[in-house]
Amino acid sequence: MRDYSNKADVLLGLQWGDEGKGKVVDILAERYDMASRFQGGPNAGHTLEFDGKKFVLHTIPSGIFRPQVLNLVGNGVVIDPAIFKQEIEELVAAGVDPLRNLFISKKAHLILPSHRALDAASEASKGKTKIGSTLKGIGPAYMDKTGRNGLRVGDILAPNFAERYQALLEKHQWLLRQYDFAYDIRDYQARWFEGIELLRQARVVDSENLVNQMLDQGKTVLAEGAQGTLLDIDFGTFPYVTSSNTISAGACTGLGVPPNRIGKVFGVFKAYTTRVGSGPFPTELFDDDGARIRRVGREVGATTGRDRRCGWLDLPALKYAVMVNGVTDLVMTKADVLSGFAQVKVAVEYHDGPDRLDNLPYDMNNTTALPVYRSFEPWSGDLGGLRRVEDFPAALRSYIDFIEQELQVPIRVVSLGPDRSQIVFT
Ligand code: IMP
Repeated sequence: MRDYSNKADVLLGLQWGDEGKGKVVDILAERYDMASRFQGGPNAGHTLEFDGKKFVLHTIPSGIFRPQVLNLVGNGVVIDPAIFKQEIEELVAAGVDPLRNLFISKKAHLILPSHRALDAASEASKGKTKIGSTLKGIGPAYMDKTGRNGLRVGDILAPNFAERYQALLEKHQWLLRQYDFAYDIRDYQARWFEGIELLRQARVVDSENLVNQMLDQGKTVLAEGAQGTLLDIDFGTFPYVTSSNTISAGACTGLGVPPNRIGKVFGVFKAYTTRVGSGPFPTELFDDDGARIRRVGREVGATTGRDRRCGWLDLPALKYAVMVNGVTDLVMTKADVLSGFAQVKVAVEYHDGPDRLDNLPYDMNNTTALPVYRSFEPWSGDLGGLRRVEDFPAALRSYIDFIEQELQVPIRVVSLGPDRSQIVFT
C-alpha cells in the first residue's frame, strides 16, 4: 500500500499580501528539507533581514539562505527570466551560491517581455477601474497558460524555442495593436534572453516527481504562498485580485502535491491590515492612525515602491481566510507597529443597515454593508526585544487571546520586528 502519511506544510498570507511571509519562511525553513513556491511570480516581494542586511526575493523561495535547504520553483509559478537573472546575481553578490540548491519546474510558464507590455496596455485601457497591477506581466502570462498558448521553462531546452518565442510574440504584437499602446521591449528582450541562458544552466526538472519523492523519503517540505488569500483569483475581492490561486489548494496544483499530502497550514496575518493597488478595503483608515501605521510599519511595496493603504484588522475577512485555507497554525506579525497607539480597533462583524451579515459580502466593491468595530486597550513600549509571551504587555496578550478565540486556531508564532531574531514561538 502507498504511504501518504508524510505531508507537505503550507505557509500563506491571510490578507492582501505583504503579511511578512518571507521572514517567517526564512525562519521556519531551517526545519525543512525543501522550501517551494507554488504560484505567483515576480509580483511578489518577500523581504528578509538578517545580519544588518536586507534582501527582497521575487521568484526564488525564501529558503535560499539556508545551505541545507533545497529550493523549488513549482509549476504554478510564472517566471520572468530577466528578473530571475537579476535575483541570482544579487544573491551571488551577497555570497550565496543560489544555483546549487535551486530546482525549477519544467512546467512553470514564462513571462515574456510582451506580457509586460500587455499588462501595461490592459491597465491603461481600464482607466479608473485599473486593478493596480504590479505590471510584471503576471495576468497576461496566466492568460496564455489557460488559453494554452504559453511557453514553459522546459521549452527553452527545445531546438525550436526561438521560433516558438517569435510566434507568441507576433500574437502579442497583434493584440497590442488592438490597444493602440506605445511600447518598446527591445532592451528588456535582450536581458530576457540572457536570463534564458542562465535558466539553461539551472536545474530544470519534473518538479512534481521531485517533491513527491522527497515526501516518499520522509523529507519535510514547506510550500510558500505569495500574495494573500484576499487576492486569490476565485476567493479574493474579484476583479481586484491577482491571477493565481493563492489559497492552500494552490499548493496542490502548483506543485503536484495531492490534497491528502497537505499537512499543516500556517496562516500569516498582520495585527492590522494593508493593501497595495486598487480595490475594496472596508477597514481602511484615512486619518492619522493610518498614516502612523504606514510610517512606523514602513508600509511601502517591496516590489513596486508604492505606499500601502493601511487599516484595522478585519476579523470577518480573517475568519473567511482561515476557512478557505484550512489554517491549522496562525502567525501574527507587526503587533509592535501598533505599540503606543491611543486606541486599537478590530472589525468584528459586518452590518447591512440593521442586519448582521453571517458571511462576507459577495461583492465587496458594491455593497452597502459596513464593518462594526470593537476597541481594545492599547499596548505600549518597544516590543522588538521581547522573546517570551509571558513578557508581552497584558493588553497585547488579550488581543491575541481574543483573535485565537474568534478564529478557533492557535497563534503559534508572533513576529515583532523585521529581523530574523525578532520572533516568539508561543
Ligand atoms: P498583479 O498580480 O501584478 O496582476 O496585481 C494584481 C493585484 O495584486 C494588484 O492590486 C497588486 O497590487 C496585488 N499584488 C500582486 N502581488 C502582490 C504582492 O506580492 N503583495 C501585495 N499585493 C500584490
